[in-house]
Order: sequence, then C-alpha cells, then structure tokens
Amino acid sequence: MPTATETLPVMPIDTPEFAADPDPFHQAAMAEHPWLARFTQGYAVHGYDANVELLADDENLIPGLGPIVDFYGMRGTMWGRFMEEMVLSATGDLHTRLRACVAHAFTPRRANQVRPMMQQVIGELLDEWAPKGTFDFAEFAAYFPITVMFGLLGVPPEPVHRIRHAIEGHVATLAIDLATKPGMLTAWEDLWHFADTLIKQREASGQVDEESMLDALIVAKQAGQLDEVELRFMLLTVIIAGYDTSKNQLTWIMKLLVDRPEIYARCAQDKDFCGRVVNESLRLCGIASPYRAAARDFTYDGVTFRKGEIVIFATSLAGRDPSVFADPLNFDPDRANASRHVALGRGAHICLGQYIAKNQLQEGIHLICQRLKNPRITGEVAWRPFIGAWGLKNLPITFDCTNI
Ligand code: HEM
Repeated sequence: MPTATETLPVMPIDTPEFAADPDPFHQAAMAEHPWLARFTQGYAVHGYDANVELLADDENLIPGLGPIVDFYGMRGTMWGRFMEEMVLSATGDLHTRLRACVAHAFTPRRANQVRPMMQQVIGELLDEWAPKGTFDFAEFAAYFPITVMFGLLGVPPEPVHRIRHAIEGHVATLAIDLATKPGMLTAWEDLWHFADTLIKQREASGQVDEESMLDALIVAKQAGQLDEVELRFMLLTVIIAGYDTSKNQLTWIMKLLVDRPEIYARCAQDKDFCGRVVNESLRLCGIASPYRAAARDFTYDGVTFRKGEIVIFATSLAGRDPSVFADPLNFDPDRANASRHVALGRGAHICLGQYIAKNQLQEGIHLICQRLKNPRITGEVAWRPFIGAWGLKNLPITFDCTNI
C-alpha cells in the first residue's frame, strides 16, 4: 500500500497566497485527490466526510500539540506544558475531567441566559466606536468576544487591552513559523502573570459568585478536581480559545455582509436570520484548523499515515466540499444544510464554547447592522495565516452612523 506522501497533491496551506484565496489551490488538489493533500509540515484534510470521521478518531489521531512544541524547541518549558496539557490537547480520562470542570458554564441554557450581557457589551462598544464614522473593523471586533469572556468569568474587563495582544502573540505560533517565537515568549510571560495574579487576587478576596466561571474553577481546585497549574491552564485556555476565534469569525462575517448589502439590511431587521448567517459563515469561512498527530501507523480510505505525522483539518474547505454543499462558493444563509459545517469541530474536542460563540456572533451582527448603516470597505485588506485562526488582519470600513 502506498503511503500518503508518495501519491498526494501539494496544497500550500501555509502560504500567504493560499490564505488570501484558497479556492484555486483547493480545486487543483481536489482534482487529484478527493479529501487529502500534503503541505510542508504534514497533511491537510479537506474533504467533508474525512473531516467528520477523522476529527472524531481519538484512537488513531491525538490532538496533542507536541510537534509544535518541538518545532519551537520549547519542550520542558511552561509554554510547552501548556500546549501539551491543556484541555484541547488532553486525552482520555484527563480530558474528561478537565472538560467536566467547565462544561456547566457552556451549556445552551447558560449561553442563552447571558444574551443580555452580550447585547450590553456590543451596545457599549458601538456607543464608543460608531461616532468615529470610520475604523478598522478587525480592531473593533477584538473587544467584543474578550469582554464577553470576562463577563462569563465574572471579573472586571480592565485587563482586556493588555492581554489581547498577548493572546494574539501566543496564537500566532499555530502558523508553525519560527518568526513568531520571540513574540510568543513575551506573550506567554504576560498571559501567565495575568492568570496567576487574577487567581491569587480572587482567592484572597474570599468572594464566591455562583455565576462566575472563575469562581467555579477555583471551587473545582479546592475540591481536588484541578491542581494549581491545571487551574491556570484552564483559565488561559478558555480566554484564548474564545478570543481570536470569535474575533476573526466576526470580521469575516462583516466582510461577507459588506459585500452583500441586501443580506446586511436583512440582518438589521431579523435576529433569527442572523443565526443563519452565522452558520453559513462558519460553513464557508470557518476560521479554525484543528491539529492532530498520528498516534500510530494507520490506514484510512486507502491512505496510510505514519506515527507522528501532523494532520491539519481545513474545516472551511470541508464546508466547500461540492459533494455535500451545492454551489459551495455561494454565500447563501437560506441554504438548508449550512449547519452541517465542521467549523466547530467534531468528537470529544468539539468546541466547548460553541453556543456562546454562535449566540454572541448572532447578537453582535444584529446590532452592528442596525447601528453601522451603509458600510463600505475603504482600503486594502490583508489576510491572517490559514493555519491557526484564519481571517482578515484588517477590514477598514466607513459607514453612516445611526443612534438607535
Ligand atoms: C467562531 C468561534 C469559534 C470557533 C470557529 C471555534 C472552533 C473550535 C474548534 C474547531 C474546536 C475543536 C478543536 C479540536 O478538535 O482540536 C474548538 C475547541 C474549543 N473551543 Fe472553540 N471555537 C470558537 C469559539 C469558542 C469560544 C467563544 C470559546 C469559549 C468561550 C471556545 C472554547 C473552546 C474550548 C475550551 C475548546 C477545547 C475543547 C476540548 O478540547 O474539549 N471556543 N473550538
């Protein structure tokens, strides 16, 4: 049986050209193989069925970020431990225990309860930013999910400005590019200091708010369900996982909507329709590309993977699989099967924050489309790496402001 390496097309998912327009590369790769391609660091799974099945295959593919830790020469450091031990990388009983400590804070019910807080956050941000008449939407979008995250944690949002850059410095390493290492070293110092200080201050206050996710994590530690390091890793994981993802997805949605004024106008009128827009944007432009490493040699659909090889799941390309989604490049929020996307993962690691993410995007775009009228893109846009958290680096817009 040939190994994947001998027969597969190359799809340059780690290049700026791919991030700016993946379709020509994707079409060429699909012509040679229906669901898999190679890139410099490993394999990229782009077929829909293969994404669904392999993302959930915990036996053969482990989610550990160990190969990335080794790439940066960071084994044995606290950052290296974080990458390999946080909930996203954990497996088996450890994963179950870590996820159980926070799962109650991410249920559909809880995500609906916090809708008023989400509305308040986006409303206050629009009060501050809309009078400018023109701004970089990516910069604006950065403040929404992280402020909501602080609301969920039950802590004041003052550190938002400070740590959002640190989060971006950390997430940049997922692009597997040595140029990101110096930024990551500083970012990690800031993130660890932030988590450690916040936890110590909260513990010293003796305050326990049953709505606060941070207090729930501290209680879990006191009950022996988490140790000191796991507590800090969990706090950082939810903040990091909830920030760059939602910020980039929101900026992507804005780009899709600004290019389609009739859909933009409908979003201002109809919040349910905004929910459909969110799903369709996740299908066509999901920003996440989960990592796995082969736990052993194994064969799937005629392709043999070797132990240790890196496998990346191109979730947005799975959403463009023509065998599942008709006319896949067309952005159509009324598409009947848009919610079958894999942008929030599959299997044991499926996005813990999926209901929070979808609700805040829905609430966000509904109010944005009401308040920022007639938006126009006023300059060149640049793209973030496809691997990691894809999307736009910037989205300069101008608009007419409406104070409702
Ligand atoms: C549009 C926004 C989002 C996208 C596209 C997204 C995507 C994903 C994906 C694809 C995974 C699975 C990764 C894997 O299998 O390796 C995941 C996991 C996760 N997400 Fe999200 N996410 C988003 C928002 C959020 C938010 C808002 C939070 C928290 C508030 C969050 C917290 C998490 C956590 C904690 C995990 C790890 C779950 C586990 O390993 O068991 N995400 N996300």
